[in-house]
Amino acid sequence: MLSPLPGWAGGETLSMSTATDSEVVTVSTSPIEGMRPGTSGLRKKTTVWEMTENYSLIDTAMESNGGKMLDTVVVAGDGRYYNNDAIQTIARVLAANGVSNIWIPQDGIMSTPAVSAVIRRRTADGSGEDGQGVAQGGIVLTASHNPGGPEEDFGIKYNEGLGQPAGEEFTETLYEKTLEIKSYRTLNSDGIDLSAPVGTEYQLTPTSKVTLIDPFENYLDALKSCFDFDGLKQFTSRPDFRMLFDGMHGAGSKFARRVLVDELGMPESALMRCDPLPDFGGCHPDPNLTYASELVKRMGLRADGSADDSVDASSLPVLGAANDGDGDRNLIAGAGFFVTPSDSMALICDNYDAIPQFASKGGLNGVARSMPSSAALDVVAEARGIPCFVTPTGWKFFGNLMSSKESFDGKDYGPFLCGEESFGTGSDHVREKDGLWAVLAWMSILSKANEGVGEGEPLTSVREIVTRHWAKYGRHFYCRYDYEGVESESANAVMDFIRSSFVGSDSGTFEANEAGIRLVGAEEFSYEDPVDGSRTSKQGLILNFELASGDPARVVFRLSGTGSSGATIRMYLERYEKDSSRHDMSAPVALKELADVALKLVKMEETTARNAPTVIT
Ligand code: G6P
Ligand code: ZN
Repeated sequence: MLSPLPGWAGGETLSMSTATDSEVVTVSTSPIEGMRPGTSGLRKKTTVWEMTENYSLIDTAMESNGGKMLDTVVVAGDGRYYNNDAIQTIARVLAANGVSNIWIPQDGIMSTPAVSAVIRRRTADGSGEDGQGVAQGGIVLTASHNPGGPEEDFGIKYNEGLGQPAGEEFTETLYEKTLEIKSYRTLNSDGIDLSAPVGTEYQLTPTSKVTLIDPFENYLDALKSCFDFDGLKQFTSRPDFRMLFDGMHGAGSKFARRVLVDELGMPESALMRCDPLPDFGGCHPDPNLTYASELVKRMGLRADGSADDSVDASSLPVLGAANDGDGDRNLIAGAGFFVTPSDSMALICDNYDAIPQFASKGGLNGVARSMPSSAALDVVAEARGIPCFVTPTGWKFFGNLMSSKESFDGKDYGPFLCGEESFGTGSDHVREKDGLWAVLAWMSILSKANEGVGEGEPLTSVREIVTRHWAKYGRHFYCRYDYEGVESESANAVMDFIRSSFVGSDSGTFEANEAGIRLVGAEEFSYEDPVDGSRTSKQGLILNFELASGDPARVVFRLSGTGSSGATIRMYLERYEKDSSRHDMSAPVALKELADVALKLVKMEETTARNAPTVIT
């Protein structure tokens, strides 16, 4: 174990620590197959990463930095099994390659949005404003919402200098390099103590040092720039406000405790599963109706998102929320009421005046959603005259939009709101989705809706806020079926079949079924990035339907890009209903008929031998 400068008592930043007798070594290696990053970094079984050094990340980062080695890089992870071993390995590789400053959070754990905040804000001597950050990149060790453990997943993701996930060009170059790798450089050295005080420095080579940084500082600054913490503290301390936050034992847990308990003064009982664990307590840390089952139950909900009528809603928390393994996803619920991620985005957009980050700048300059997300956002954006972008799945596409001036008729990029059906919501305060940000956004909406509601009077609930929204804009019934662990060949066969049988066919070709549901057309989504002009194709197959009522409906098929073995087919279902007398139905029920029609059309059971999805959310 490397020790910091002898005689150091902690408490202040060290000027310099002793170098050890570590030497740079070059080790021969050969390529590992299949190291192409997916929707969000590269996720593989943990055992694959026992060769972490064998990954051409730093060479790629240098190439994308104009051939110059990076000066400052952040390395942090979501705390899953192998987190700290990987940090030690990566620190050695970075030092051996000449990165001067390696910033690692004390104890190694940070949520993904917190890493983005460090990249964007942290100056050489600590905190800084947005845009003043000096790190040129961050290495985030996470497989997000995938389970963790020796037999489960580990992942590595690279974020670029604005704090955003690496773009297509970077990930493609990285992949090509993994096919050619012959050697890597590392240090022959002991590990460092990640639990040492913040500010501790380890001089790994004469020109490279590790500094242990405060995990919270920059991220808290970012959140405080978005929300009125004093106002929220006042609202949440009302005796009739109660909340329940499920950290799923992920990295977001410690940030939730810091914000909800330490900053806003909520009781510990507002938290559940808020201690980060290497195997997430054996759970699947994905905040959806299936995997956040205890929270779902404690919010008076059934697994299909409908209210459990046997529970008295007045005894339930006013707000329920969960974050995923790396704290970037969120689930939002009210008492006996589940808010779909697509609706959540639309609601935040319509209520931007409740959020100081937007309200103080006169509203939103732009919004964006991923293609498979529902069009609920588009309807609000249109009504409010806000430019709305539809991108492929993956946060990197939002990052580009947010950081550009051109796409907004020359206006500055901010303030910007974006999100995905996959429980991701965020804004331009960082360049990642942000689970805790979404929770504070909803708290702000609730707080504003309850201005003037005196103690003893009933609080305006999440249910009321959302149903009023539907009455105004119509409801987009939405749900998703996942077929997990399908053989890759069958999954591809389903996609090929849809492509060859429906895409480009004339709308008159198809007949309505008994229920009057008719396929009217199909297309394959591709995207031309308005900022850098890059084209991304094959981003999902869209089947457009017309219902007996004449209302439109849509079913999208897409293969997941975040699994580590086999394939996951996702089927996204959506239909629009203007009539508020028909809004009070659970989404999976409202979409069941459409789902059956689509599954039959694409021959799902015949091709995959699956007669039911693994997850409905
Ligand atoms: C990650 C990414 C998201 C993306 C999601 C979808 O969470 O950060 O941006 O929407 O994966 O993953 P999928 O499994 O559908 O490719
Ligand atoms: Zn995540």
